Amino acid sequence: MSARIERAGSLSTIVPAKGFDPERVRRDFPILERKVHGKPLVYLDNGATAQKPRAVIDAVSDYYERTNSNIHRGIHHLSEEATIAYEQVRGKVRAMLNAADEREIVFVRGTTEAINLVASSYGRAFVKPGDEIVLTAMEHHSNIVPWQILSEQTGARIRVVPINDDGDLLIDELEPMLTGKTRLVAVAHVSNALGTVNPIQRIVQTAHRRGIPVLVDGAQAVPHLKVDVQALDCDFYAFSAHKLFGPTGVGVLYGKAKWLEKMPPYEGGGSMIRLVTFEKTHYAEIPQKFEAGTPHIAGGIGLGAAIDYLAALDWDAVVAHEHELLTYATERLDATTGVRIIGRAKEKAGVLSFVVDGVHPHDVGTILDREGVAIRAGHHCAMPIMQRYGVPATARASFAFYNTKAEVDALARAIQRVKEVFA
Ligand SMILES: Cc1ncc(COP(=O)(O)O)c(C=O)c1O
Repeated sequence: MSARIERAGSLSTIVPAKGFDPERVRRDFPILERKVHGKPLVYLDNGATAQKPRAVIDAVSDYYERTNSNIHRGIHHLSEEATIAYEQVRGKVRAMLNAADEREIVFVRGTTEAINLVASSYGRAFVKPGDEIVLTAMEHHSNIVPWQILSEQTGARIRVVPINDDGDLLIDELEPMLTGKTRLVAVAHVSNALGTVNPIQRIVQTAHRRGIPVLVDGAQAVPHLKVDVQALDCDFYAFSAHKLFGPTGVGVLYGKAKWLEKMPPYEGGGSMIRLVTFEKTHYAEIPQKFEAGTPHIAGGIGLGAAIDYLAALDWDAVVAHEHELLTYATERLDATTGVRIIGRAKEKAGVLSFVVDGVHPHDVGTILDREGVAIRAGHHCAMPIMQRYGVPATARASFAFYNTKAEVDALARAIQRVKEVFA
């Protein structure tokens, strides 16, 4: 059984349910009833963005219909209601990540902004010429480019932990790379291009032995894994609401208070100050110090609804279902001649990248689309990983808990169709 959402006035009450039935859960996602090119939609582009349950859609429209007003500043009733609703989400995110303190939850626009915030703010405070930032070979551009910009500004250098042909991180190469000059290790929890789940705890332990903080890009992890930032002991953790079944334009930077307190503001403006004169500004405490300007209030409230929705699912069953899907899809594609899977790490989540012999991935994506199957084709904002495998692009099916084995069969049938067209 999936979660059951009961509407009570403007509030959605989640009734937790045991076990997991993807067919039942699909009914919570209105878009999954759509047809595309006359075929039932098979949505396998969840890594790009996930679909939204009715509870999230309703929370956002309820907010605009009943509560809309600016937060943290008004003394009127609507503003107070909106502020409470928005700030409650901080508590929900704290609980979801098992962070020690709500002050460690900073609302941002998404993973990209979270990483840029750390690169800019931590970078200004702690990174000097000759220092080093350590990344891995499987990072998304949003966990590469901000560090390059920082390097250009500071004269720091980027070092890259390599991977093997299966897409596993060569973790033993990390330790020798860490020196007295290393200021930060920044690593994806789950690779968006390969699906590799990185051993974050081990990476953090290795870095912390030398007093080096670790930033984790959790964009592709939170939709698939239970994340506990205290157990991981990472210093920063970033994710986007839209990949977690919530709205676009909002995301979270978790940062340990001891770092956030030492870091200068990222942007200046309203809401991040205590006192402003033309001579000097006294900044607000964390997390507001990092939250300049009017935030995406409706988006934050939608994120809260997504977290409530997910909290009512049986996560052991969700993880088992997704594992079964990925295994089944891997078997189906392995059994299809002319199809090569890119990324066979020991631990994977949610992502199946592949190429079809003699067919450009964009053509694969276009033909699949005509069959109603939505996948992504391209470099997945991870050009270095494409270079590592010597391909210009891959096709990528990425799964969510509402996907089914029947949809994997539809994917396999559509790939057969690609082969027929190009035979
Ligand atoms: C691993 C990873 N990091 C970062 C991002 C950037 O996320 P956003 O565009 O939501 O900021 C993505 C998006 O695909 C991703 O997959």
